[in-house]
Amino acid sequence: MDPERLDQIARLPKAELHLHFEGAAPPDFIRGLASEKKVDLSEIFNPDGSYAYRDFVHFLSVYEAATSVLKTPKDFARLTTALLEECAANDVVYAETFVSPEFCGGGDVGAWREYLHAIQEAADAAERDMGVTLRGVVTCIRHFGAEKAKATAQCAAETAGDWIVGFGMGGDENQGHQRDFKWSYDCAREAGLKLTTHAGEWRGPQEVRDAVDDLGVSRIGHGVRVIQDLATVDYLIERDVTLEVCPGSNVFLGVYPSLDQHPIEKLRERGVKVTVSTDDPPFFHTTMRQEYANLAKTFGWDEEIFSQINQTAMDAAFCDDATRDAIRKKLERT
Ligand code: HPA
Ligand code: ZN
Repeated sequence: MDPERLDQIARLPKAELHLHFEGAAPPDFIRGLASEKKVDLSEIFNPDGSYAYRDFVHFLSVYEAATSVLKTPKDFARLTTALLEECAANDVVYAETFVSPEFCGGGDVGAWREYLHAIQEAADAAERDMGVTLRGVVTCIRHFGAEKAKATAQCAAETAGDWIVGFGMGGDENQGHQRDFKWSYDCAREAGLKLTTHAGEWRGPQEVRDAVDDLGVSRIGHGVRVIQDLATVDYLIERDVTLEVCPGSNVFLGVYPSLDQHPIEKLRERGVKVTVSTDDPPFFHTTMRQEYANLAKTFGWDEEIFSQINQTAMDAAFCDDATRDAIRKKLERT
């Protein structure tokens, strides 16, 4: 594909469903906060200024170290603006972001409300200025354990509404089981929240099936390893589950050696609902524009396929229907 054509595709309007809030923090932003707060974070950066980590588990600990300098509601408001500037620069018109009350007041509902208020205020201002709509998915952290997740789910339930629209789980997929978090998912569902969880990024098809059967999620973060068992692939189709696929993240972390070996195209061709997201863009050296350009280059995806991908994303988005319709109109305007 010639560069001009790739550039055209990279600039299409986009919806993104899988974006970790703190994972969207550029290294310069975190370094700036660290120096303001006189915290030495030098060990989490490479000499060129990028985040330094060896593998996924080390990534999670570097992520938590970076997050440790985000202390006040104002810090999170500044991060919201930075995140939305990046969305706008990548033509993203709608994004859902994973926010963790664990990092915003330690799971205390009163503190969480203050952080959320600051985040929402910054998001509303950015929506007016930049035209990007953001919604929040409260996310528990698997390796923090099921008890902490209960407090997180209660924070989610207390603040469920127009802005907090879903509940999810990130963290180390290799620890414990999806069913350990059933209480939290039931609590979130009863509060009217829509559900997603990370599964099938590191573990295989059984983990993906467990996510659907044990937690009742309508979306799955990643889910790509389901390709190892076609019966489970078909189960996802039958249950109308949407995958939040993050191709660049998977390649960067070594889940697949290269994009041409990534199963997103096979899953899409078989009829699985797939969408495209960045996960933790500065950590994985990606952007939404790069994701689109790389998918076009590798699989020959054109405007029509990206339009389908965005329609799938908006069908599966957790926002209310008025927002969904307004965003659909923006996405159609190419
Ligand atoms: N995967 C799982 N958990 C996470 C991630 C991720 O990419 N980022 C932050 N928490
Ligand atoms: Zn993720």
